[in-house]
Amino acid sequence: MKISKICCIGAGYVGGPTMAVIAQKCPHIQVKVVDINQARIDAWNDSDLDRLPVYEPGLDKIVADARGKNLFFSTDVDQAIKEADMVFISVNTPTKTYGEGKGQAADLKWIEKCARQIAAASDSDKIVVEKSTLPVRTAEAVKDILDNTGNGHKFQILSNPEFLAEGTAVEDLLDPDRVLIGGDTSSPDGLEAIASLVDIYANWVSRDKILSTNVWSSELSKLTANAFLAQRVSSINSLSELCESTEADIHEVSRAIGKDSRIGPKFLQASVGFGGSCFQKDILNLVYISRSYGLTEVADYWEQVIKMNDHQKGRFAKKIIKSLYNTVSGKKIAFLGWAFKKDTNDTRESAAIYVADHLLNEGANVYVYDPKVSEEQMYGDIDYLNSRSKVDNRKLLQSEDDPYDVCKGAHAIAILTEWDEFKDYDWEVIYHSMQKPCQIFDGRNLLDKEKLEKIGFRVYSIGKS
Ligand code: NAD
Ligand code: UDX
Repeated sequence: MKISKICCIGAGYVGGPTMAVIAQKCPHIQVKVVDINQARIDAWNDSDLDRLPVYEPGLDKIVADARGKNLFFSTDVDQAIKEADMVFISVNTPTKTYGEGKGQAADLKWIEKCARQIAAASDSDKIVVEKSTLPVRTAEAVKDILDNTGNGHKFQILSNPEFLAEGTAVEDLLDPDRVLIGGDTSSPDGLEAIASLVDIYANWVSRDKILSTNVWSSELSKLTANAFLAQRVSSINSLSELCESTEADIHEVSRAIGKDSRIGPKFLQASVGFGGSCFQKDILNLVYISRSYGLTEVADYWEQVIKMNDHQKGRFAKKIIKSLYNTVSGKKIAFLGWAFKKDTNDTRESAAIYVADHLLNEGANVYVYDPKVSEEQMYGDIDYLNSRSKVDNRKLLQSEDDPYDVCKGAHAIAILTEWDEFKDYDWEVIYHSMQKPCQIFDGRNLLDKEKLEKIGFRVYSIGKS
C-alpha cells in the first residue's frame, strides 16, 4: 500500500520531531500531527520558532521547512484520522498513579482512547502504528478494540518504537542506528503493512538498518533497550560511590573499561542519577510485567537499577547537607540546571527535582537557573511531589534568569544539568560573590575541578575523592 497521508496522534517530544523529519524527508506525503492540547498545537504553529513546545537543536529549521507545505498541526483529531492511510499513536504512557499496578505499570488509558477514536472515526482500512512505548502484548488489546468497535474496516497493527534521545532527537532521527518495525509477519496483509512503513523510512534510512520483527519482539525490544541503557548508568553510578571510598577515580575507571570493545565507551558517565520520561517508567513497567508472569527474580534484577538511581540522587543531596555542617536551613543553595540533561527543555523525572525536594525538606532556599526551563515548569515539578504546600514551595524555591544572580550570596552551588554554557562562566566573579567557604557540588563532573580549586572553591565531584 502506498501511503500518501499520515496522521500522528500526540504532538509531544516524540510525535512532533518524528513527524517533522518524516515530512521533510517525504515531501510526497501529507503529515498531520494532532493533539487534544490546544496550547501545544498553538505553540507548534507559532510563527516565532523560539516558542515551539519542544526545544531540540535543529528542530526549528526542519519545522520551518515543512510546516504549511506537507506538515500540519491541528486539534481536529477525527478529520486527520479519517483522511489518513496510516495513523501513528504517539501519546504519553506514564507510570500509573492509581489502582492496580500503581507506581509500576504503564497507564494505557490514552492508548485505549486513541484506539477507540481511530475505530470510530475511520471510514476506510488503515494501518495503525504504535509509536508510543508500550508493554509487550499491547497490540493485542489495540487490535481487539479496533476490530470490535470499528465500522467493519480492516486494521493492521504495527509496532514502531522510537529510539531518539532528547537533546539529540534531530540527529537521531536523521541518522538512526536502526529502525524497528514489528508486524504480523505471518499474513500477507501484515507483510504488506510492514513494507509500506519500511518504504517511508527508506526515503532517508538505508534498508539494511530497517529491521522487521514480530510485534511482540518489537514491543519488548523498546523496554529492553531502555533497561540496558539505564542499567549502565546505574552500574557506573554504583561504582562512583566505591571510588569515593577508595581514591579510585570514576572517570579513569570509565575510560579504562570503555576501551574494551565488548563494553564500549558510551553511557558510562557517572552522574547525579538518570532522569527523563523513559528510563524509570520503562524499567518499572518491565518489573511489573515480569512479576505479572510470576518471574520474581527477573523483576528483582531490573528493580535494582531504579533503587541504585534513587540512592544516587539521595546521596548527592545528603553530601550537600553534610558539607554545609549538617544544616542548610535558611541557606541559599544555587542550582545550575533543572532539565534532566542538556539541550532539552524537558524536566520529567529530572534528578534536580528530587535533590531540590530533599533540600527544601531541610528548610534550604533553593535558587535555580536553567537556560531553557521556565519558573512555571519548576513549580509544576516540585508541586507534583506533594511534599509541602504550594505556598511553601514558592517561598523556598526561586528561579532566576541570570546565573550570576543565582550564585550571588549562595553557600553552595550544585550542578544538576551538563549545559555547556556553565563551563564558560567567569568562576572568579562567582567565587567573590558567594558565602565562604565556597562549595561546588558537581553532579555532572562538568567543571574543571583543578581550576576551580585554584580559585579557592571546595569542589565535590561524583566518584572522585
Ligand atoms: P508527551 O507527553 O510529550 O506527548 C504526548 C502527547 O499526546 C501530549 O501532548 C498529549 O496531549 C497527547 N495526547 C494524549 N492523549 C491524546 C489523545 N487521546 N488524543 C490526542 N492527543 C493525545 O510524550 P512523549 O515524550 O512524546 O512520549 C510519547 C510516547 O513515546 C511515550 O510512550 C514515550 O514512552 C515514548 N517515547 C518517548 C521518548 C522521549 O524521549 N520522550 C523517546 C522514545 C519513546
Ligand atoms: C532515552 C534513550 O536513550 C532513548 O533511546 C529512548 O528513546 C528514550 O530514553 P533520553 O531519556 O531522552 O533517551 O536521554 P538519555 O540520553 O538516554 O539520558 C537519560 C538520562 O541518563 C539523562 O538524565 C542523562 O543525563 C543520564 N545519563 C546518560 C547519565 O547519567 N550518564 C550517561 O552516561 C548517559
